[in-house]
Amino acid sequence: MDDRNRESKKNKNHCIEEDASAVASSTSASEEEGKNADAADKSENADAAANGKNADAAEEGEIADAAEEGEIADAAEECEKAETRAKDKNADTTANAAIADATEEGQKTDSDGNVGKIHTVIATVDPGSSKEELLSALYPFGQMIEKSGVVAFPTETVYGLGASALDPVGIEKIFIAKGRPSDNPLIVHITKTEEVFELVRSVPEKAMKLMKAFWPGPLTMIFKKQKIIPDIVTAGGDTVAIRMPDHPVAKALIEISGVPLVAPSANASGKPSPTMARHVLEDLEGKIHGIIDGGSSAVGIESTVIDMTGEPPMLLRPGGITQKMIEAVIGPIERDDQLDEIDRGKSSKKKLNFSGKVRSPGMKYTHYAPKAQVLILRGIREKVIGKIKELEKAYQKSGQTVGIITVDENLKEYEKGSCKNPYLRSLGSEKDVEKMAANLFAILRDFDQTDVKIILAEALEDREMGYAIMNRLSKAAGQNILYVEEEN
Ligand code: TXA
Ligand code: MG
Repeated sequence: MDDRNRESKKNKNHCIEEDASAVASSTSASEEEGKNADAADKSENADAAANGKNADAAEEGEIADAAEEGEIADAAEECEKAETRAKDKNADTTANAAIADATEEGQKTDSDGNVGKIHTVIATVDPGSSKEELLSALYPFGQMIEKSGVVAFPTETVYGLGASALDPVGIEKIFIAKGRPSDNPLIVHITKTEEVFELVRSVPEKAMKLMKAFWPGPLTMIFKKQKIIPDIVTAGGDTVAIRMPDHPVAKALIEISGVPLVAPSANASGKPSPTMARHVLEDLEGKIHGIIDGGSSAVGIESTVIDMTGEPPMLLRPGGITQKMIEAVIGPIERDDQLDEIDRGKSSKKKLNFSGKVRSPGMKYTHYAPKAQVLILRGIREKVIGKIKELEKAYQKSGQTVGIITVDENLKEYEKGSCKNPYLRSLGSEKDVEKMAANLFAILRDFDQTDVKIILAEALEDREMGYAIMNRLSKAAGQNILYVEEEN
């Protein structure tokens, strides 16, 4: 960002600062009470369920180990418009309190190292609003970020937990709130292509092509970093991950903050990523300063991550932009060995056993994990369905509540017979893999609100988005994958 840009951004921020918080104010203040009450109920229920589960744990059976520079309206014009809208900037006492929280309190820890509660401000924003309305509505959240606060916001992939990418104090709060290991680097989110050149040392030609093809969108690229990026962002490494999200709320928040934002998924570390604001509340209420509710994330799984620092580029995480889509633009790429290791699983030949303790899954790959154990079954459709039904009965017999994840096309197979399993869930139709991806995390999370102890999931075809879904599901299962053919 050159000085001229910085100055114009400063002017814009200053103009809006005069008065513009009124629009967001009323939204956040009024929404908040009801939502907090809901959240309190929900978390109580969740706690109760968890306690019940713990009590049951002793008897638990075993499953297998199984460059749009000028796009912002001219500063003066924006200022004028905002002035006409604004009624009373002091109305937003709640947001102001949270901004103050971000400034003065940060996240206090007591002598035992417990993180103190923060007042979390929640605002609902319509992503279809005009850009000018969004900038106004998000102004208080930009302020929180400026004061080293952390704010959850929607992106097209999943909700992110944002702080200024240039502010180690705010970034540390992200690690604390999520309980994220400090050796896991963060993605920097930008809104203008030019910003890349200020953050990275060189941009390979192939990266330029991918930017043109897929930005804004669910593609994260890794580059050699510039000094301006604090070490905490990159876990001390020499590379930085950058993405330009394609969501009006995410874009407006970055813009009103006036800086690139780091944003990991806004879940507690190890939980499924949030695709709705209520998922963020479940995990992080009282631990972060703000949540911007902009509805459900359309893609539903996190961005594709590709390392552009070597040749050929290497896929590190499958996501919304598939390998095939990337290769159509830049030719062959490599795939990180670890990815295929995750997909193969590790428990195909282990015997299932319905008594005794659950063996702990490989922690290294356990992410996205619901409270229940997940077992994926792979193989010929009929055999997989048959095996799931057989296991369902066996687990139920041993007193355990079983969930099933299938697809629309197979639902009727499980609905046959007299007692339909109330925890039978479909990801959607196999004909719409994108929709299935969008449903995955919410389904996994919703099982946490039930008594389900074991989730039996059909494997999907590993093609295109199916590959990204299976990558997440395999991690949720701690690689517990049963190859049905081999068992028979
Ligand atoms: O869709 C997404 O990417 C979401 C939204 C909020 O943008 N963000 C997200 O962030 O998924 P997070 O932190 O949950 O996942 C980032 C992934 C991690 O696996 C991290 O290890 C990897 O990207 N990553 C970040 N920086 C990296 C780097 N310099 N080198 C290698 N991997 C990196
Ligand atoms: Mg994550």
